[in-house]
Amino acid sequence: MADYRKLRETLMDMAMSTSTHIPVLLEETLEALAVQPGGRYIDGTVGGGGHAAAILERSSPGGQLLGIDADPEAVKVARARLAAYRGSVLLVNENLVNLKAIGIKYDFMPVHGILFDLGLSSLQLDSRRGFSFQHDAPLDMRFSPTQEITAADIVNTLSEAELARYIRTYGEEGYSHLIARNIVKERPINSTLHLVRTIERALGGRRGKIHPATKTFQALRIAVNRELENLEAVLRQAVKLLGFEGRLVVITYHSLEDRIVKQFMRREARDCICPPSAPTCVCGHKARLRLINKKVMVPSATEIQENPRSRSAKLRAVERLITQDDYHGNSEMENILVEADCGTWRNPAVLKKLEMIFSMS
Ligand SMILES: C[S@@+](CC[C@H](N)C(=O)[O-])C[C@H]1O[C@@H](n2cnc3c(N)ncnc32)[C@H](O)[C@@H]1O
Repeated sequence: MADYRKLRETLMDMAMSTSTHIPVLLEETLEALAVQPGGRYIDGTVGGGGHAAAILERSSPGGQLLGIDADPEAVKVARARLAAYRGSVLLVNENLVNLKAIGIKYDFMPVHGILFDLGLSSLQLDSRRGFSFQHDAPLDMRFSPTQEITAADIVNTLSEAELARYIRTYGEEGYSHLIARNIVKERPINSTLHLVRTIERALGGRRGKIHPATKTFQALRIAVNRELENLEAVLRQAVKLLGFEGRLVVITYHSLEDRIVKQFMRREARDCICPPSAPTCVCGHKARLRLINKKVMVPSATEIQENPRSRSAKLRAVERLITQDDYHGNSEMENILVEADCGTWRNPAVLKKLEMIFSMS
């Protein structure tokens, strides 16, 4: 515990002296992941490596971590930050949408825990890659330079109606039509400040607590990186990589993401997903997950004060259940169970449950 506190203080000091990302809901994440020595973890959004460093610290001795990020710059930063754990950490520059294939490729499954800390890191917000409306930069917003479509492509090529639909759907912006009309009049727009001025003119300056460009920038970033389309697929793949009693922890930063995560976790934690009007169950759906926190976790007032960028964070966590369907007649799964070098399965309580299931089949 003392080591962990020292690590947290070091992370805070580093973050204050440079533009390092401060990991959000750090202690809550470690608790929800139930990090244990010798455990195997995936940090699917390794970013600046803050959560990853804490997971490696708490899972030592013997812990292993696979860190993934679509942004090659983030992987570089994480590699430097996690240098002390060389030998226990593998970092890959890939999109999470390939999560299952990545787990198979690096023979990193099953795992004790998976973390997705979605959205942007402070490194990205402070970079000149178009994510922030606070400084001028090319209108890019891609997590990876290998992606084909930039924010400028979207802003300069979509029809007014399509633009308005994106801004409304992904930004939950009530004035989407007004903004889209002004963008189309003003095109071509290739820089963040040109876009900010266009939005400000459309909406007439600052409105309420947030900057008038906040929602449109969110919408463009989500569209460029296909964030919502990818999220549900990624959640489904994550469940497949978890060992029994393995944990999945997801931190989101806006309601659109949180809704997808909440609905996915609630659905997968239920035995039947028939509509309430159905007289009997016809879906045959079986729960694969157990909700760890029924109520969403949010940062404390102290954390928000120390790190204002944490203010919109929401953490949800689930545990993988053992279900008979998982292995019944599935020799591959039985082999994994027998061969896997995964601490969870050495847990006597888990072994007892497995024995019970095996004796029933
Ligand atoms: C909030 S930051 C993570 C910060 C990290 N937890 C830390 O403590 O430093 C989110 C990271 O996820 C990455 N990311 C977002 N969506 C991704 C995706 N679909 N595939 C891979 N990386 C993604 C971003 O590039 C960014 O670096």
